[in-house]
Amino acid sequence: MERFKILFVCVAIIVSCTSRTPQNKSTGTISEHAMVSSAHPLASAIGLEIMKNGGNAIDAAIATHFALAVVYPQAGNIGGGGFAVIRMNDGTASSLDFREKAPALSNREMYLDSDGQLNDQQWSTHGHMASCVPGAVDGMFALHQKYGILPMAELIEPSIEIAQKGYALTALSAELLNTKQKEFRKHNRWSTPYQSDQKWQAGDTITQPDLAQTLKHIQTNGRNGFYEGIVADQIVAEMQSGDGLISSIDLKNYQSVWRKPITGNYRGHQIISMAPPSSGGVALIQLLQGTESYPIAAWGHNSTKTIHLMTELQRRVYADRATYLGDPDFVFVPVNDLLDSRYNQQRYANIPFDKATPSSLVLAGEIPPSESPETTHLSVVDADGNAVAITTTLNSSFGNKVMVKGAGFFLNNEMDDFSSKPGSPNQFGLIGGEANAIAPHKRMLSSMTPTIVTYKDQLKMVVGTPGGSTIITSVYQTLLNVIDHGMGMQEAVNAKRVHHQWYPDEIRVETDALTMSVQTDLEQLGHQLRMIDKIGRMDCILVLPDGRLEGGADPRGDNAALGY
Ligand code: GLY
Repeated sequence: MERFKILFVCVAIIVSCTSRTPQNKSTGTISEHAMVSSAHPLASAIGLEIMKNGGNAIDAAIATHFALAVVYPQAGNIGGGGFAVIRMNDGTASSLDFREKAPALSNREMYLDSDGQLNDQQWSTHGHMASCVPGAVDGMFALHQKYGILPMAELIEPSIEIAQKGYALTALSAELLNTKQKEFRKHNRWSTPYQSDQKWQAGDTITQPDLAQTLKHIQTNGRNGFYEGIVADQIVAEMQSGDGLISSIDLKNYQSVWRKPITGNYRGHQIISMAPPSSGGVALIQLLQGTESYPIAAWGHNSTKTIHLMTELQRRVYADRATYLGDPDFVFVPVNDLLDSRYNQQRYANIPFDKATPSSLVLAGEIPPSESPETTHLSVVDADGNAVAITTTLNSSFGNKVMVKGAGFFLNNEMDDFSSKPGSPNQFGLIGGEANAIAPHKRMLSSMTPTIVTYKDQLKMVVGTPGGSTIITSVYQTLLNVIDHGMGMQEAVNAKRVHHQWYPDEIRVETDALTMSVQTDLEQLGHQLRMIDKIGRMDCILVLPDGRLEGGADPRGDNAALGY
């Protein structure tokens, strides 16, 4: 392997990314052959080098994923889980569920007090009890086994080197770390590499010898280097130090699952996205079905009429999400009914255009019987036209804030994505129902929406984002921006976003997304607006009509699209 070449690129990028250089331009990185778009320039650079060295898109995605676990610890992970959607250049599509699973000792009352009310201890979001059995490492090996070309050891090696030698913090990462110091101190029995008595500054270097060691165990012993042996023992010891539930048997038994992707059509495009236990694919296709019969291009991007329609669709789709979606290995999820065009036509038939529908009047549709949200997404296209979209998460920023002592990685707080008390909101304000109640070994519902779009059987877009409950609507708007509003990839990613999720009954509006007159018009229709700073951090790739690739990396973060 050309290890020195990779390191050289890494060093060059460490130097160049010590201060924030937002990609506010409206045309993204253009490349002839291949592209990686991810949340961190170092991770994108590593993925790109893997492809230059003969790896395919899946190899690059795996290497990028491990690199994000080192340089983007707020969401990049080996202690979390996620989903991958793949489309190979022969047109075959597949998707992998490496979502975390509830430990065997979990139960549906674990976050309730003796009155049956949710306790206020934040056990589902902070500390050891919030963690589920991680799926990320198993997922990377499953992907590699099916599609990888280069040896797995080569894909992990650059991440080991960065963990050992260190990487420089960007301004945004330093700022984020400074806000988390109190929580790190509260939830760790030792001083993690991310703690400091001084304020972190852009350019400060972080080395992670424990994490390097853990990655070496994985490199040497494969999947079992994480789920068995010393790393597994360290996870279990960490759990036992703080009421955590994950056992060595939970770890040993973890298995990711290949699932049939969710597919649908929108204005002649084919959409390939993630099936339950992610709600992303189903909700995205429901939203697109509801949009297709309206001329939103003529109405205009972020115009009153377009936002009103999107909001009315979103409140209905999120009501369905809350009621029907959960882990299909545990509950019946009526996917075919929810994606049936007759069902959706009926569901949207009563959308009024002269006023907002209060969410209290919107219940889930009648089906015939029978996420500081921190997640991260990466998109890769290789020179042969193979494509992969991976969204992965610890749930909150730095997960449960607990770093496994001796192993150097943060654990997820994915238990909060279950409905701890069906009908009560989680940290994203999402309401869940019985379908998403806690049960041992069950996977919690997700909003992650890694998505691939084709047009006339040719690859067109690879799309995804973090953002908890806003993931689905960010992906939805980005597709509309390209397909309906004629934007390029970077422009579509830059465009300001809005979000509605049934409850709370409000449209979240990114600063400057809507003109004052659109805001006034929407309020007059009865919509509540709430201004917020940022929605989502997209990492996307568009195949241009001449076959070149345009990367779209979100200026809301340090995201970088790199190609050759
Ligand atoms: N943890 C955020 C999600 O999976 O939707």
